[in-house]
Amino acid sequence: MLPALLLPTTLLIALWAGPLVLAGDASFGKSCNPDHQKLQEGTYQFQTDCDAMTFCAANATCAHRGCRSDEFPFGYPQNAKLPPKCDKGFFCPDEQDQCQPVLAVGSPCQFNRDDECEGPPNFKELADTSGLGLNVNGSVCLNNICMWANVTVGLPCVVQNTAYTAYGPDGEFIDIVSRGNCRVGLYCDAQQLVCVQTKAIGENCDADKECATYNCLDSGVCGARTDTPRQVGKWVYVVVGVCIFGGMVGTLVGLYFIHRKDRMQEREKRLQYWREQNAFRQNIMQMQETARNSLMSFGTPGGSPRSTVYGRDQVQSEDSQVPMLHAASKSSALRYYVSDDGSQIDDRSDEDLMMRRRDPPQGPPGDRF
Ligand SMILES: *[C@@H]1O[C@H](CO)[C@@H](O)[C@H](O)[C@H]1NC(C)=O
Ligand SMILES: *[C@@H]1O[C@H](CO)[C@@H](O)[C@H](O)[C@H]1NC(C)=O
Ligand SMILES: *[C@@H]1O[C@H](CO)[C@@H](O)[C@H](O)[C@H]1NC(C)=O
Repeated sequence: MLPALLLPTTLLIALWAGPLVLAGDASFGKSCNPDHQKLQEGTYQFQTDCDAMTFCAANATCAHRGCRSDEFPFGYPQNAKLPPKCDKGFFCPDEQDQCQPVLAVGSPCQFNRDDECEGPPNFKELADTSGLGLNVNGSVCLNNICMWANVTVGLPCVVQNTAYTAYGPDGEFIDIVSRGNCRVGLYCDAQQLVCVQTKAIGENCDADKECATYNCLDSGVCGARTDTPRQVGKWVYVVVGVCIFGGMVGTLVGLYFIHRKDRMQEREKRLQYWREQNAFRQNIMQMQETARNSLMSFGTPGGSPRSTVYGRDQVQSEDSQVPMLHAASKSSALRYYVSDDGSQIDDRSDEDLMMRRRDPPQGPPGDRF
């Protein structure tokens, strides 16, 4: 679309990109050149030598701004005292030096600053309430002149075409925006320069302005407004819900199986441990039996007091946890196992154990270690 317009604009941008002055770093009180104030080509952003909180005053120094255009202006530190927003009937110019009363129809205005122009008497009828920004309170600033957006179908209109540099995934491209002073629901045809009825969704179009929705698709038909909320079908909610629920259940089931495996391993270990303990207990009992038999066969019928103590000790030891150490060192991997009653089994040598075993008990078996 509009290749004739596209070429010179690209050229212009290429030429302009060279002597680009980095504007906006002079702080309050520093000198500036008022002639440097201009709109940046391509983006049409206002440029000045002064920083975001100051403007270039007529005496060529940066002075504090006297008004702001935005609710949350850019470049101010947190909790800074902001200049006021202008009241109804006033506007804050691009320089943001001070509030000025709105301009009468036909007066010069700053680029695209529809809000600088005074509304028409029938502003309620002419104002654009669609949110597309076609006019402000029924006024438009076209080619830097305040006008009312009041032209009806078939009557001559004023058009302003602006080429913006836009940035997309494929790099820079030119976006041409065409504005006119037709009433809402009409657009200013660039060739015939008369107001034409806008087109409904699905009709053929060449530019956004031709569509009532202000969205001419690449396919050349009017599409829905770009700010239309995307509606998804009920089935999407169902699928998402099922996926969430399925994910939760799947996680639970997966964890169950993982933990079951661990549990089985742990149980197997305990079982092994128990078997070892049992075998060890049998051994001890056998040893005890052998010892008793050998004592008996060696002499002193009736037994000495020492052997009674020894026997009692052995009987108690069967219930104690002492034998565990011996068995634990074999294969159950529970060497430093902490038993249920909280007592920790330590790793003593067999000799040590045997030596201690010959001592008479000092207290309950469990307290000895
Ligand atoms: C320049 O003008 C501004 C605003 O008009 C004023 O506040 C400031 O004092 C002036 N500076 C000098 C150096 O005259
Ligand atoms: C719109 O313009 C009319 C006429 O100038 C004015 O009385 C009214 O206050 C304006 N409304 C707004 C919201 O600026
Ligand atoms: C339409 O607006 C223009 C200014 O843009 C004004 O001169 C003219 O009188 C208005 N026409 C009507 C019918 O209101």
